[in-house]
Amino acid sequence: MYQFNFSFSEFLTTYWQKQPTVIKGGLTNFVDPISPDELAGLAMEAEVDSRYVARQGEEWQVEQGPLTFENLPEDHWSFMVQAANHWHSGAARLVKPFRQMPGWLFDDLMISYSTPGGGVGPHFDQYDVFIIQGSGKRRWRVGPKKDDYEECFRHPSLRQITGFDPIIDEILDAGDILYIPAGFPHDGYALENAMSYSMGFRSPKKQELISSFADFVIENDMGDEHYHNPNLPARENYGELPAAEAEGLIAMMRSLMDNPEAMQQWLGEYLSMSRHEMDIISADPLWTPSELADLLLQGETLFKIGGLRAFYHEGKPGTVYVDGECYQLPQGCEAAANWLCNQESFSVEDMGPLVEHQALLPLLTKFVNMGYWHPAE
Ligand code: SIN
Ligand code: CO
Repeated sequence: MYQFNFSFSEFLTTYWQKQPTVIKGGLTNFVDPISPDELAGLAMEAEVDSRYVARQGEEWQVEQGPLTFENLPEDHWSFMVQAANHWHSGAARLVKPFRQMPGWLFDDLMISYSTPGGGVGPHFDQYDVFIIQGSGKRRWRVGPKKDDYEECFRHPSLRQITGFDPIIDEILDAGDILYIPAGFPHDGYALENAMSYSMGFRSPKKQELISSFADFVIENDMGDEHYHNPNLPARENYGELPAAEAEGLIAMMRSLMDNPEAMQQWLGEYLSMSRHEMDIISADPLWTPSELADLLLQGETLFKIGGLRAFYHEGKPGTVYVDGECYQLPQGCEAAANWLCNQESFSVEDMGPLVEHQALLPLLTKFVNMGYWHPAE
């Protein structure tokens, strides 16, 4: 089990989105949850998002997965697997201590394997990232946040910067954690064969929110209403946009957002959408609600598939948002929001009498048949 040996609340107060920091030995007796061979196996799969980066002097080489691992140089290369927590249950276990962070901010766990000298070069990310060092040592340098770092394209698919003056320069060992807020430049290269685990948290941008809300408005056929002004006065200045009329148009837009229920539904759907492919396999054969109830009554546990996002709004556990869709829980079943959204698995112990609730079972059966929850890990 992975557990922090520092206070996460204190970390949040002092460093979160403020300053980068190294937490030496943040996870004690760290053991890699995945082997380099298993990671390479994932990188060879077509559905898994992976990348190979190598350098020879100033020459950089990048390949997108699926990777083949043929003709590899001796060193100065690394490969990384995005959303490894979606494909490997051991990797998913490493996410658990980070559940003190809001689930809606979590993006994915990227795992990289690097040979000596391997790394992706100096760059910054739009993500707040915790990099956990696994086996092997890696040297990390982090610079101050500034607006004027010069981007350079040593390779078209690497967004590197020319360089920075480090404020952190440390060699990380197994179990050390480096936290880098979004926008702080960094550069890490391995000193020996090394595994790194990057836990990415991505804060949405204003422009993404507005664009997603606009999609929601269209999909739900909201605001299909024209500007209406039966008191239109005759005017002298044909080309002038009167303030009151401009305000009227802006108010039309605002009125769409002045709808707390619609806003909640949009936000729940938007935040629960996964940005990375999941290993979803629908049940075959399909379960019936009574078969599922029997299974649960026998003491089986249902596990959430790696990377599945499930949320509910505070004080509104009657509606759950799962993978971009909104579902109403039957009346009296609101407790289900807790074990569906806050927990990674549930069993009859969590469900109590709801295990036999005739209105809830069809929804749970639907989730299991879709492959969102599954028996046995
Ligand atoms: C890596 O693990 O090589 C890349 C992590 C990062 O710098 O974002
Ligand atoms: Co980075």
